[in-house]
Amino acid sequence: MDARAHLRPLAALVALVLTGCTAGGAGVHGEPGAAGLRDPYFPKLGNGGYDVQHYDLTLDYDPATGRLAGTAELTARATQDLSAFHLDLRGLTVESATVDGQRAAANRAGDELTVRPRRDIDDGSRFVTVIRYSGVPQAVSDSDDAREGWLRTSAGALAVGEPSGSMAWFPGNHHPADKATYDIAITVPEGVAAVANGARTGERTSDGRTTHSWRSAEPMASYLATLAVGDLRVTTSRTAAGLPVVTAVDPKAAEASADLLGELPDYLDWCIGYFGPYPFASAGAIVVPSERIGYALETQTRPVFPLDQFDELTLVHELAHQWFGNSVSPESWQDVWLNESFATYAEWMWQEDFEDVPVEDSFEKAYENDENWTFPPAEPPGPADLFASPVYQRGAMVLHQVRTAVGDDAFFRIVRGWASEHRHGNASTADFTAYAEEESGKDLTGVWDVWLYGDGRPVRP
Ligand code: ARG
Ligand code: ZN
Repeated sequence: MDARAHLRPLAALVALVLTGCTAGGAGVHGEPGAAGLRDPYFPKLGNGGYDVQHYDLTLDYDPATGRLAGTAELTARATQDLSAFHLDLRGLTVESATVDGQRAAANRAGDELTVRPRRDIDDGSRFVTVIRYSGVPQAVSDSDDAREGWLRTSAGALAVGEPSGSMAWFPGNHHPADKATYDIAITVPEGVAAVANGARTGERTSDGRTTHSWRSAEPMASYLATLAVGDLRVTTSRTAAGLPVVTAVDPKAAEASADLLGELPDYLDWCIGYFGPYPFASAGAIVVPSERIGYALETQTRPVFPLDQFDELTLVHELAHQWFGNSVSPESWQDVWLNESFATYAEWMWQEDFEDVPVEDSFEKAYENDENWTFPPAEPPGPADLFASPVYQRGAMVLHQVRTAVGDDAFFRIVRGWASEHRHGNASTADFTAYAEEESGKDLTGVWDVWLYGDGRPVRP
């Protein structure tokens, strides 16, 4: 018999006494939520025990000093009895925390903020957490050395967060599995522009400061939240179908980006033709000088582009992500090939439709490139490889192999069906492989084994 078994009744008694002391007896049943969601690449990212439904971020930013003061109100539902729970937050100072209006203890350790409410939270119940915080948010050097988080500029800032930079500017459950709607209001000096995701819900000026309010009414993974503050030309127009298009462009990038920005509605229509209805209530783009950021990002409804990457194919890529990645989001970071494969395949399709480059030629070029064979797209060796070329190019090759195996009709049914089946949700690689087989009625094991999971370059198909 296990010697420790004798101690169990005693341990239970001690626990009862201890918890009884801190919470005053009634309803003592909760345990702390997990500090991470055990993502295969970022085990501490996100938090367990609750599910955020809505973020209400009220921010105040001073471009001159780089200081941000914020109040984050998170409406969440407990998924277990909770005595405490974690939020992800990088840097910044937490001034206070409340849960359902009552002061809560808040402790920091690294990027983890532990909130311990006065009373335990019942499984299934809704609760509102308010965190007041401030400080100078920082850029984050992410897993592949790209710069994300809060990127400061002379007149403002640009916030981008794939995969984990959003914790640099607001506390939250920063894993894509926990999507939520957002209200983001940011106050800046009058004359400074501030654009976030979604639709504008207000713009009010008093005492020389302007509050810009934005709403994402459809669920969003936190890595897709963005904020562009500074000297920006902001324009709002509508597509023929009535969809608001908000563009924010740095004056230094305005002339060079004007023509392509004007064509954005046509690009959206092309996407809608292949992928189905546009999933969000607004669209747009943010274009900044090339030195601000080294990559384009599909931030929800309003992708960000450095001017030197604001070209036809990158625009197609980031717009395709609105369906694949943003509306249908990865269940974990291991599923990121589902984002990048569709976005890359969209580029191949665009080249076929408008540049006389058959998809087969793009496939062939990717097949010949040694860089694409260093690892299988569904199994990046580590976090530094999540945005490496096998995820993009070999991911697109997987899709093309599915197309070859099932034929065009079934393939485009799968593409549209996948987008509608998981609209505004999350899906995994296993969901996709099962869906493709079900929708086509074909056993695609050979495709998955060789193209999705196999090591090295397979023999030419
Ligand atoms: N998802 C982005 C794209 O559209 C690239 C993300 C870059 N982020 C990074 N950490 N490398 O391809
Ligand atoms: Zn991409």
